[in-house]
Amino acid sequence: MKPTFSSFLFGGDWNPEQWPEDTWEHDIEMLEDAHINEATINVFSWALLQPAEDRYDFSMLDRIVALLVKHHFNIVMATGTAALPGWMVREHPEVIRTEQNGTRHVFGGRHNFCPTSPYFRKVSRVLAAHVAERYAGTPGLVTWHVCNEYGGGGGLCYCEQCAESFREWLKAKYGTVENLNKAWCANFWSHTIYDWADVVPPVSYGDGISDAKCVVSGLQMDYRRFQSQAQLECYKNERDAIREYDAATPITTNLMGTFKDLDYFEWAKEMDVVSWDNYPGMDTPPSYTAMCHDLMRGIGGNKPFMLMEQTPNQQNWFPFCKVKRPGEVRKLSWQAVAHGADTVQFFQMKQSIGGCERFHGAVIAHDGTEESRVFKETAALGEELSRIGKRIMGSRIESRVAIMFDWQSYWSLEGCVGPTAGFNYPNEVHRFYRALWRRNVPVDFIESTASLDELKNYDLVIAPALITVLPGVAETLESYVADGGSFITGYMAGIHDEHDLVVPGGYPGKLRKLMGVWVEEIDALAPDETIEVHGDVVDAKGEIVASIIHREGAERLASYGGNEFYAGHSALTVNTYGKGKAYFVGTPLDETGMSAFMAPIIQQLGLKSFDTPEDVSLSIRHADDGTRYAFLINQSANGKQLYLSELDGGKELLGDSVVDGVISLKPYGVDVIALQ
Ligand code: GLA
Ligand code: ZN
Repeated sequence: MKPTFSSFLFGGDWNPEQWPEDTWEHDIEMLEDAHINEATINVFSWALLQPAEDRYDFSMLDRIVALLVKHHFNIVMATGTAALPGWMVREHPEVIRTEQNGTRHVFGGRHNFCPTSPYFRKVSRVLAAHVAERYAGTPGLVTWHVCNEYGGGGGLCYCEQCAESFREWLKAKYGTVENLNKAWCANFWSHTIYDWADVVPPVSYGDGISDAKCVVSGLQMDYRRFQSQAQLECYKNERDAIREYDAATPITTNLMGTFKDLDYFEWAKEMDVVSWDNYPGMDTPPSYTAMCHDLMRGIGGNKPFMLMEQTPNQQNWFPFCKVKRPGEVRKLSWQAVAHGADTVQFFQMKQSIGGCERFHGAVIAHDGTEESRVFKETAALGEELSRIGKRIMGSRIESRVAIMFDWQSYWSLEGCVGPTAGFNYPNEVHRFYRALWRRNVPVDFIESTASLDELKNYDLVIAPALITVLPGVAETLESYVADGGSFITGYMAGIHDEHDLVVPGGYPGKLRKLMGVWVEEIDALAPDETIEVHGDVVDAKGEIVASIIHREGAERLASYGGNEFYAGHSALTVNTYGKGKAYFVGTPLDETGMSAFMAPIIQQLGLKSFDTPEDVSLSIRHADDGTRYAFLINQSANGKQLYLSELDGGKELLGDSVVDGVISLKPYGVDVIALQ
């Protein structure tokens, strides 16, 4: 695959406007010493660029750009629209977001615009156009970066402008209020809409029960779809302005992994290259981080992505923020590359002295020298990337397993009022993903609406908690399995249609025939409660819910234990459907249970897997010239040893040795091994 960039970008956010100008060049020289070759600029500069509605001032940005050009830096140029200037909120208070409880924000914060505000659309487009006109063609300009972390300012907007645009959106979707009433099951609690004007967003003093749940769940789903699309329109608006001045340079915006509010599959279709910001928490398992990378690769059609941000040291926004241990940032960086990143970028280059991010890690820390541990580790990583990053760029991950990540099911599952409040959708996806990651089986992420042709690229398709089955999806899955594919789904699957209405006739709705089961009831388990699951291969526990299953052709793989009235009922089943198999997982299995369940499936399908010690992961990127790059990563703070015959004879690129027998990995150690 042709790489997006001609060199491996190593750098990240640089905010020189926070510093006296006479420090800039020295900072750049220090960054060069760390092999940094890229700066992301102008992310939060709207107030400087446009001090008043009728006045623009690019003089400082001109000087920043000139300096970067002088030093042959690659430039990622943001449009600068991520925080509203004070004068704008003063003069146009409707430009800022309104909370679910009706409180309209005042000047402050960031990512704070109302996504339907006509004024915001106008001025952000004009600013993006000015920036593009002025800096298109700048030597080293490699990417346009629109706004920043859309939706990251905390929640949807519930203002009157949004309500009005939502009504228009609904009119276009449903045509008549009769159709709307039917879709929303509006006879419930006298919710008949007589006139479009009766439609109110799910505010907390109306139908909103929380930011996730709503009296009329179809309203909740439609409002989320509408808001995700409204934000996307803001992105497209700026993107199109840039395209008027620059026909070719890739345009992106930085996404946030499993972020709930935006349907990233829709977003990625509008982006030239996917970029995202990776900020694992201190207790985030490495498998979850790996899943996020794979998801971000998946939304972009399995192409390499940009790691637009990560922290070079501790974050500042947890209750307590540990410094990253020696080697940890290097490990996180190589993990991103192992899963398809073609850049390694940080927030940020120089640590602020003011503002709430002054304790956030940076390449140049408060001491301002090259003597800090973090600076030295960054420089060592930069040296490695400058040596071997380029040859890895453009190489692909080859997977025979796909997981469906479905934002509709995300909203729907977490929107359910009953049978449990225990679900977090990404955690349910991770529950399945982890079992594959643990065996180093590569995974792609796909949409639930993937076509039959796309599904046929895979031997196994998994749809965790696919509660929303959109039109056509069940039929496509039936054809896929009938043709020999293997499919896994389970608890909560198939319950809702696209309007969030329960499909009548028994769960899992349209998937019932394919799965060969009828789920009669769904029992919820209390937060500390578990249920035993016993079978030939699985001896484990389930949590959160237990589906009470009747088999309708499926075979039993395991049953519930304990002394519930449904003890002895099937907990795990497999249905032979045409030439393929459909597995139903009745309860969220614990880690050992999921691993045991998945093991024979991996084996029967002949999926390539690798046995590595606990906390050591292996992933492989395939280059067009046939070289395979194997990334062996020790995710833990303890040294590890392993032997894998497949790696013997490979060339270890970081240490420049040939693999021969046992491999020792230091704490957080990384090996990149080229295999022919
Ligand atoms: C986000 C933002 C950055 C910065 C970092 C701090 O990713 O995009 O501007 O605030 O968080 O972790
Ligand atoms: Zn609004």
